[in-house]
Amino acid sequence: MAIAEPPSPAAPDGHEHGAGPPLRLRRAALVETLATLVASADLPGLRAHLDALRHAIAPGGPLWAGPADEAVIFPEDLLLAELDQIGAALTLERARYYAERLSKAARGERTAAINEIDLNRWKAYDDILTDSLWLIEHRDSSGAHSADYWGNFIPQIPNQLMRRYTRRGDWVIDPFAGSGTTLIEGQRLGRNTLGVELQAHIAERARALVQSEPNRHGAVCHVVAADSAEADFRTLLTERGVASAQLALLHPPYHDIIRFSDDPRDLSNAASVESFLSGLGRVVANVAAALDRGRYLALVIGDKYVRGEWVPLGFRAMQVVQEQGFLLKSIVVKDIHGTAGKRSQKELWRYRALVGGFYVFRHEYVFVFRKR
Ligand SMILES: C[S@@+](CC[C@H](N)C(=O)[O-])C[C@H]1O[C@@H](n2cnc3c(N)ncnc32)[C@H](O)[C@@H]1O
Repeated sequence: MAIAEPPSPAAPDGHEHGAGPPLRLRRAALVETLATLVASADLPGLRAHLDALRHAIAPGGPLWAGPADEAVIFPEDLLLAELDQIGAALTLERARYYAERLSKAARGERTAAINEIDLNRWKAYDDILTDSLWLIEHRDSSGAHSADYWGNFIPQIPNQLMRRYTRRGDWVIDPFAGSGTTLIEGQRLGRNTLGVELQAHIAERARALVQSEPNRHGAVCHVVAADSAEADFRTLLTERGVASAQLALLHPPYHDIIRFSDDPRDLSNAASVESFLSGLGRVVANVAAALDRGRYLALVIGDKYVRGEWVPLGFRAMQVVQEQGFLLKSIVVKDIHGTAGKRSQKELWRYRALVGGFYVFRHEYVFVFRKR
């Protein structure tokens, strides 16, 4: 629940919500105060120390850190909730347990090896999704992000995945880079990115969009115009002085639902579902060769409907990744909202669905895998 400086929990990426104004406290003094509290002989004594602590953390109180102090930062509402929990404990043993847990949080971060989520203050990350149903109503259209590229995904998808499965300075591969949503989001989060996109003018546009975005963390982004089914991702990385990648995000065409170009290598021009899946398999193999073992690959894809039959493209594509030896970790279902154009046809689609005995697509999948 506490983090060291830098970064500050209120500032780093503007993505952590639900926390009050941050309290900047003297780390050593706080740890010492908590040690005294834990050493109390009885519950009334411990509660007296707790009251003193509450006063000490109030604005201008003795625990407030000056500019030269080593500080620990807590969202105010979370720290107060922790203190309330200590105060409400019915036994000395339980109160000590909560106080020791808080002291541990004050002493330093506890993060998993593959991300920067401080497990000591996991309640502060209420915007990190952990359920398998993602209902995301509004597209993040801040900065360089825009919905102009037909078929691009919402920035919240790469944001969620990079924060769960990478740390700052890690490398993320996106072999279907499109308008660069992953790359822009990576730069914001301090993740380095390698994007490959078949269409040179779209790759150029992605590059320009990334460059127009502030780069607070000094992240590196390379955009390459190439066919990902033929690309050697390991070489693309090593040529740039990087040994391997720590996350891969794949957002391929949903076969021919949207035709992205006239290029026969474009997976949206694959002659059949089978040839689409075999092309996707080649991309997965190429990306897998550059991904560290134990790290994650996410595939974002939807189904399609052909001549009265629902084609479970998502599950077929999921199997393609599993056949490459990846372990399936999660199947996330994400809602899709119609565009303005589609909305005007909503009633028509509803009518067609009633007549044709089918359901209108409102979801796509985010499949999450781990490389064995
Ligand atoms: C669904 S879009 C990805 C959109 C991207 N996530 C974004 O937010 O802009 C799929 C992209 O894959 C590209 N593409 C199709 N076949 C490809 C291939 N063989 N190699 C590389 N890119 C390919 C298309 O040109 C298109 O831009």
